Amino acid sequence: MIKGFLFDLDGVIVETAIFHYQAWRKMANDLGFDISEEFNETLKGVSRMDSLNLILEHGNVVLTEEEKLELAAKKNEHYLTLVSKMTADDILPGVREFFAQIKQTDIKIALGSVSKNAKMILEGVGLINDFDAIIDGTKISKGKPDPEVFLKGAAELGLSPEECLVFEDAVAGVEAGKNARMKVVGIGHAEVLTKADIVLPGFENIDLTELLSKIQ
Ligand code: G6P
Ligand code: MG
Repeated sequence: MIKGFLFDLDGVIVETAIFHYQAWRKMANDLGFDISEEFNETLKGVSRMDSLNLILEHGNVVLTEEEKLELAAKKNEHYLTLVSKMTADDILPGVREFFAQIKQTDIKIALGSVSKNAKMILEGVGLINDFDAIIDGTKISKGKPDPEVFLKGAAELGLSPEECLVFEDAVAGVEAGKNARMKVVGIGHAEVLTKADIVLPGFENIDLTELLSKIQ
């Protein structure tokens, strides 16, 4: 029986991928190359340093560890100026209504994000108090597709992996959920999120009881 929901943040609760893309793109452009939106897809759910390494590889740029840390810090500063303007209006459609349905049950809610900025974003959009547990990039050592973030989420909720349902928009995130032996609801397109147990386009008009009966 499902007793806990584990939500990814970026692309599931709020749409920050565009801001990550803008900030990484500016960095790449400064280094003399460009990254496409399609390439940006491959960065979803991937940690900051892993993303940086993928981008540098893509642009055939070799840097020292120190230079990489400096670039990552600069990208994050730019990213923070972009996300600091986010408000409750930036919560993705249907999320609030879905949370309201969950609150009427005994199902617990945890965040499972590799972002080190997750708490700041949740505070900004006013959702921080809706979570029973928050696992973010500051609490884990391995990014998705490693299952660490979701296993820690389940543990903090006091649940077994089999009792948890993951909501994910990224290929790496769906894999992380499956690697944690959890059921996964993909948020996005079925052609992309092929490993998810079910795929929904978003949370609009989702009936919790119906979803649970489909997944269990
Ligand atoms: C999420 C996003 C990734 C991002 C990662 C780290 O998983 O989907 O695109 O790289 O978080 O975010 P951070 O805010 O710590 O740089
Ligand atoms: Mg995501």
